[in-house]
Amino acid sequence: MTTGYTVERLRAAAADAVRAPSLHNTQPWRFRLRDGGIELAVDPLRRLPATDPSGWGARIACGAALLNLRLSLAVAGTPATVRLRPYPGDPDVVARLVPDVPRRPSPAEQSLHGAIARRFSNRAPFWPDPVPADARWRLGEAARAEQCWLELVIGTSAVNAFAEIARSAHRVLERDPAYVTERTEWIRSEPSPDGVPAAAGGPQGEPQDLLPQRGFGGRNRAPGRDFEPEPLVAVLGSTGNTATDQIVAGQALQRVLLTATDAGLAVSMLSQPVEVPGAREALRLSLGRFGAPQMVMRIGFGQPGRATPRRPVDEVLDLPVVQA
Ligand SMILES: Cc1cc2nc3c(=O)[nH]c(=O)nc-3n(C[C@H](O)[C@H](O)[C@H](O)COP(=O)(O)O)c2cc1C
Repeated sequence: MTTGYTVERLRAAAADAVRAPSLHNTQPWRFRLRDGGIELAVDPLRRLPATDPSGWGARIACGAALLNLRLSLAVAGTPATVRLRPYPGDPDVVARLVPDVPRRPSPAEQSLHGAIARRFSNRAPFWPDPVPADARWRLGEAARAEQCWLELVIGTSAVNAFAEIARSAHRVLERDPAYVTERTEWIRSEPSPDGVPAAAGGPQGEPQDLLPQRGFGGRNRAPGRDFEPEPLVAVLGSTGNTATDQIVAGQALQRVLLTATDAGLAVSMLSQPVEVPGAREALRLSLGRFGAPQMVMRIGFGQPGRATPRRPVDEVLDLPVVQA
């Protein structure tokens, strides 16, 4: 008989889960143990009403955290069976994980798990070296393993067409003062357990930039330091766009990001064209895909960098109160 997960296992798995990416590093998740299962829920107090009114971003982040949970439990020899959105009356609960038959982790699970702590958003310019074909193939396989698709935007005219969509989405968002205020509020110039450290925000955008950078208060660029002329742009998409599809896409996103990290690649995300409905549809049509684009990534060989801070794991656990 398989027994339930313990508080120690929950704490260790949650410590891996919180390394997932989230919009503005809001970390919109909570973890608890219930009847021997681990449950992951969206934290309603960490929503971004102006940037993420539908809750799409919080579900993507929680999906990414869910993949880390799954990997953490698998490498500990206690893999999980996962039910997404298990309580129709409580849609904030993203997933419930119960112990499956114990087994040894696969080499793939071990290497993806090993990449969790090394992954970070790298917003600096990349080296011009192209991403090798076998790495591109692995990234696509990572998305497919999680029931999603990954489209690489190849060729100057396709990248230019994408960039036009992304820049116009960026302009639409930047016209909304509430969106700008929210983003500014999550920039951190002092050490903080959440938000985007200004030092990780990438350099300030310049008029000649092909892709729009979300401004996180980064430093000015040295003259002549431009972004790579032919970035590898990858669009991750899901077969539908329900809340469950978005959680599935979050898991796929994290598998792609960890696969990239494992392959020695750097990634930054740009989600403006996914956040503006018209741009998202234009992007979908330009790719000739069914379903819904859920994230755009810029992938390449980057300079070394550092993981960004997270809140202590005990702050995101809901543990039962033990009676004295
Ligand atoms: C749904 C979602 C959307 C994001 N959109 C952007 C974006 O448009 N631009 C950007 O630079 N980073 C974006 N990010 C990355 C987050 O800012 C980043 O994950 C967070 O600050 C934590 O940093 P880390 O990825 O280095 O751990 C996004 C992340 C998620 C999950």
